[in-house]
Parts: sequence; C-alpha cells; structure tokens
Amino acid sequence: MGVLEVKGVDKHFGAVVALESAELEVKRGEVHVLIGSNGSGKSTLCKIIAGSVIPDAGEIRIEGTLTAINGPQDAARAGIGVFYQELSLVPQLSVEENLFLAALPRKGPGLVDRAGMRRRAEALVERFADVTGDGFTLDALIQDLRSDQRQIVEVLKVLATDARIIIFDEPTSSLDKRQVTVFFDLVRQLRDKGRAIIFISHRMDEIFDIGDRVTVLRDGRSVECLRLAETDQDAVVQHMVGSRITPVSGGQHRVRNDYDETLLAVDNLCGNRLDGVSFELRRGEILGFGGLHGQGQSLALRILFGAEPATDGNIRLTGGSRRPSKPADAIRKGMAYLSGDRNRDGVLLTRPILENLVAADLTKHKRFFLSPQRLIRKISPFVKRLKLRFSGFGAPISSLSGGNQQKAVIGRWLTIQPSILLMDDPTKGIDLHSKTDLYQIMRELVAEGVSIVLYSSEDAELLGIADRILVFNGGRIVQQLEGKQKTAFNLYQAAYGVTA
Ligand SMILES: Nc1ncnc2c1ncn2[C@@H]1O[C@H](COP(=O)(O)OP(=O)(O)OP(=O)(O)O)[C@@H](O)[C@H]1O
Ligand SMILES: [Mg+2]
Repeated sequence: MGVLEVKGVDKHFGAVVALESAELEVKRGEVHVLIGSNGSGKSTLCKIIAGSVIPDAGEIRIEGTLTAINGPQDAARAGIGVFYQELSLVPQLSVEENLFLAALPRKGPGLVDRAGMRRRAEALVERFADVTGDGFTLDALIQDLRSDQRQIVEVLKVLATDARIIIFDEPTSSLDKRQVTVFFDLVRQLRDKGRAIIFISHRMDEIFDIGDRVTVLRDGRSVECLRLAETDQDAVVQHMVGSRITPVSGGQHRVRNDYDETLLAVDNLCGNRLDGVSFELRRGEILGFGGLHGQGQSLALRILFGAEPATDGNIRLTGGSRRPSKPADAIRKGMAYLSGDRNRDGVLLTRPILENLVAADLTKHKRFFLSPQRLIRKISPFVKRLKLRFSGFGAPISSLSGGNQQKAVIGRWLTIQPSILLMDDPTKGIDLHSKTDLYQIMRELVAEGVSIVLYSSEDAELLGIADRILVFNGGRIVQQLEGKQKTAFNLYQAAYGVTA
C-alpha cells in the first residue's frame, strides 16, 4: 500500500481540462517521478495534493485513510511538503525568514526563538555549503539572489518542514551539475529515511539517475506507471507521445513554393542562455523552433529582432546587411515580431485600436503627423483580411477578446509588409477560432514569399504548420526535423535529450 494514493482526480480551468481521472500511488522510501510534456497536468496534480488547488472530483488517501485536503494547512498537517515550480518565496524577506515562514520556532507563546532559528537555518544551509555561490547568506534578501540560489532556498524551506511526503516540482531547472549532485544526495538520504518523494523534471538523465518508479501523464491522464530499472528512455517517450498522430492541418497540405533564396543566415549566435545557434531561413518557409519551454527559442527571436543583446555570433540578412541593433532598426530591415505574451510586448492596452494598428508603420516610415482618416484608409484592407471584429477604431484595444487583440497586432505588422515575421508563441491562450484564422493568414503570407520563424509551446501546432523544425535543448539546436522525420516522437526525443 502506498503512503499516498490519488484516484479519479478531475480538474478543469474554464474550458481547459488540466486533469482527467488522474491517478498516482507513491510508496514510503521511493522517489516517484512524474513525467509528461508541458501542460500535461503535473503541477496541477501536485498543487491538488498540496491543497493549493481544489479538484473538481477525486480522492486522496494517506496511509490508507481518506483525507480531505481543502487548503495548504490541511496538507501540512498531513505531513506533505512542496517545492513549487514557480517558487513560494517572499522576495523582500531574507533567506532565514523565508525558511521558517510557515512555522517560526518559538520559545513560548508569542516569543520567537531567534537563536534557535539561526542555529537551524545554519544547519540547513550547511547542506549546500560548497555550491551556493557568492552572496548566499542567511541575511541576504531573496530578491538579490540568482535563480539557482532561490531554488536552493525553496529546497531548504521544504526540508525545514520535515514532511513525510515531499513533492519537488522541477527543483533542478536552474541548478548547475554540482548543485544537482548535492541535491540528489539529499533526496537519497530522505528516501533512505523512509520519506515518500515525488520528483518532476524534464531531464531524462536525472529521472533515470534518481527515480525508482515513473508515472507518465498525457493530456491530464495517468497513462502508465513503470519501474525505471526495467524500462528505457525510448519507452518512456513513447508513453508520453502515445498513439497520437501528427496533425496535418498545415505544412503538408500547402503547395511548397520553389523560392530558393536564403533570407537570413545566423551563425554561432550566443547570448545569455543561448549557446552557439546557427541556421538559415529560406524565403517562403515556416521555420519552427521546438523543444521544452525556455531552451532559448524566445531569446533567439528577440535577439534577431534587436530586442536583446547577443554576446557573440553573426546575423546576415539578404543584401549583406548586419544584425539589427534595436527593434526600430529591425523593422526598417523588414522584420516584424509578434509575441503571445500580449501584456509584455506589443499591445498598448489602454490605447485605441487605431493607434495599435499603425504603431509599426509610424516607426518604419518615421511618420508622426498623418491624419487619422488617411491612416484608416491605409489599414482598412488589412483589417478586412484579418476578419477583425471590433466596435470602432477609437475603442481601447483592451475591449477586444484575446484572439482579436492578437489579430490587431498582426495587422499592425502587415501594414509594413515585412519579409520576415518572427512569432514568439503567438497563439498562447487564444481561442480555437482565432487560431484557425491565424494559421490561414500565415499560410497566405508564406505563399506571398514572406518567411516566418515560429516558436510554439504547442507541439501539435508546430508539427502541423512548420515546414522544418529546429529542436532547442539547453540553448542549442540539437536536431532538425523535416519531411517524414517531423513526428511527435522525434520531437520529444530531441527535446528531452535522449541519446539515440
Ligand atoms: N490557474 C490556472 N488557470 C488556467 N489554466 C491553468 C491554470 N493552471 C494550469 N492551467 C492549465 O492546465 C494545464 C496543465 O497545466 P500544468 O501547469 O499542470 O502543466 P505541467 O504538466 O506542470 O506543465 P509544465 O511542464 O509546463 O510545468 C495547462 O493547459 C495549463 O495551461
Ligand atoms: Mg509544471
């Protein structure tokens, strides 16, 4: 019998089905891995066990006893400790204060045991002693720490609770090799003390190194539970992919054009977390960037657009022109950039739709005094083409639905007739109808000779519409998939760093 048994858990967020009859059984003294692609429901399942998300249905048993977990307090009382993927630290407080946020050591009623707290904090930090790096002290504020150091604090915070069921949701994503080694030693000690540990990571080598069993989640369902010693990486990837058939909504149906011109050549591009990326972009193709989130895809797009600096490498545009130094420069060289993160990039939310539509045109041509009538005349054909639905050009863009906002931003770029369209997860969070319209526009554009570089966090979208896919892993391109090689299996295999 497992110390933790989860059965029949359902969770919907609006129309999104995050979990559907999910199951999990974790034993004492085991490291139980949860694996599944981005969005498959791993964190949601963990949050339900931790009481920070309430499920629509399902039951949780601890040591065989049906246990109601209606909030984080219930979970803590049941001996459950969680490392949150997005971390749960208070930036303005110190390392020490964060460690004991949930339960301050007390000498008596209302009296915090400061000396005791310091001793316990020192003992905890000692565990990572040689690998915490500069500036990591008990009095340092979380906001001044690097991302790896914050992850270490979150680990120590869980250890401070002395829980018997411990969930680690992607604790190693920012850690370096030495830090992971120290962390794994700690996890093994906990396991040997009889704790039940749930561990999430996208790195196959880590999973096979530390895990005893693995539960594979696919589209919110638990599809398989395997002993890691009795299986291999290919088998795990196969369960993640399932019998899913590559959708053929896009690229395959498109008549391939015969432009044979290289519009953009990128050589050994480096920057922040980008590590020597090289590729060529041909006219009239949709080049996909694939892989897990945060492997350098968005960064590469932003560097191409001149919005982030590169530390090394070359970008050559047709006609020998050099790397854009800033977005305005990129726009003048015929590039456009569209992000799915509408709050961060691109949309001037409180400004009128008209202003949003003409922003790029004004930048490109350095025109600032055109009459609104002339501007409207200029952009009307594009508005029609995009099937944009809105009440009037004067309405604020925030009055539009997410999908229509996204179309408005595309409309803005179409007015300058770009030759290269950079798309950074453009369909994130928009409805199916708007997505279909967007794919249609993309296909029309490439037929006209525009080239698109598309990063999508949705594998199915990428497999459906991209002509070629470059798979990013750890800031590098590890695989190119074209033609028959463009399958979900090959994409996952490269994304998860499985060596053939
Ligand atoms: N608070 C929320 N509101 C709306 N949708 C949500 C919320 N939390 C999760 N989702 C959605 O539920 C699905 C499952 O998300 P979840 O975070 O559990 O995935 P995951 O397997 O942890 O992914 P990752 O590997 O990227 O961390 C996704 O489609 C996600 O967008
Ligand atoms: Mg997650």
